[in-house]
Amino acid sequence: MADSFAMNGGDGPNSYKQNSKYQGERFDEAKVLLRNSIREKLTIHKNSNATTVTPVFKIADLGCSVGPNTFACVRTLIEAVELEFKAQGFETQLPEFQVFFNDHVANDFNTLFKAFPIDRTYLAAGVPGSFNGRLFPKASMNLMHSSFAVQWLTRVPQEVTKEVSPAWNKGRITYARSESSKVEEAYAAQFARDMELSSRQVSRTGGDGLLAILMPCRPEPSSLQSHRS
Ligand SMILES: C[S@@+](CC[C@H](N)C(=O)[O-])C[C@H]1O[C@@H](n2cnc3c(N)ncnc32)[C@H](O)[C@@H]1O
Repeated sequence: MADSFAMNGGDGPNSYKQNSKYQGERFDEAKVLLRNSIREKLTIHKNSNATTVTPVFKIADLGCSVGPNTFACVRTLIEAVELEFKAQGFETQLPEFQVFFNDHVANDFNTLFKAFPIDRTYLAAGVPGSFNGRLFPKASMNLMHSSFAVQWLTRVPQEVTKEVSPAWNKGRITYARSESSKVEEAYAAQFARDMELSSRQVSRTGGDGLLAILMPCRPEPSSLQSHRS
């Protein structure tokens, strides 16, 4: 099994739970995009009697950590989906929601489960394991979401760890402040490899399932240059 480093569990002063305000605020900023995309892209199947054939709507949050952001994300997703069901005339046939909370096996799922909102309107399940591997049966999910998790690399790229390599990064574990563009290229290549693996999750949503990813980015290439100077 690959090494995995989960966020600090529990709810003490150094826990992720007490130190994830930044990610929560960024999600708040992106909410409107998420809602609009769901409104534009959600397909609701009808059978010949024009009733919904989506009795259970399945949502996965990849890299959920221990909360509280995951709960806010899930609430937003469910509200947006319900709104769309209503907008398409299915207000009396809202689906049941089932939410799959995924993170590495080392994640503090106990803290997550203890913090479930008492007024939650969905059935919940924990799914331990890397989203770079297989987590769900094919075409089983209606909506997959991930905030601030897909940018995590599965490993430090090998090239940057070897002194003889042109991408040698002098023992640093990040490309920030590196002196060689080869270091950035090595990190970019690792990211591409990891994305290739995690993109297989898309097939878990089936043909008209939705995938929503929120991740930190920075413009290139000028910011890389200024970072070095
Ligand atoms: C910064 S936290 C974000 C948590 C939450 N989504 C939020 O927005 O607050 C990133 C989470 O992604 C998880 N993660 C990173 N790579 C993962 C992978 N390959 N499979 C499953 N979880 C992963 C980490 O364990 C961590 O809990």
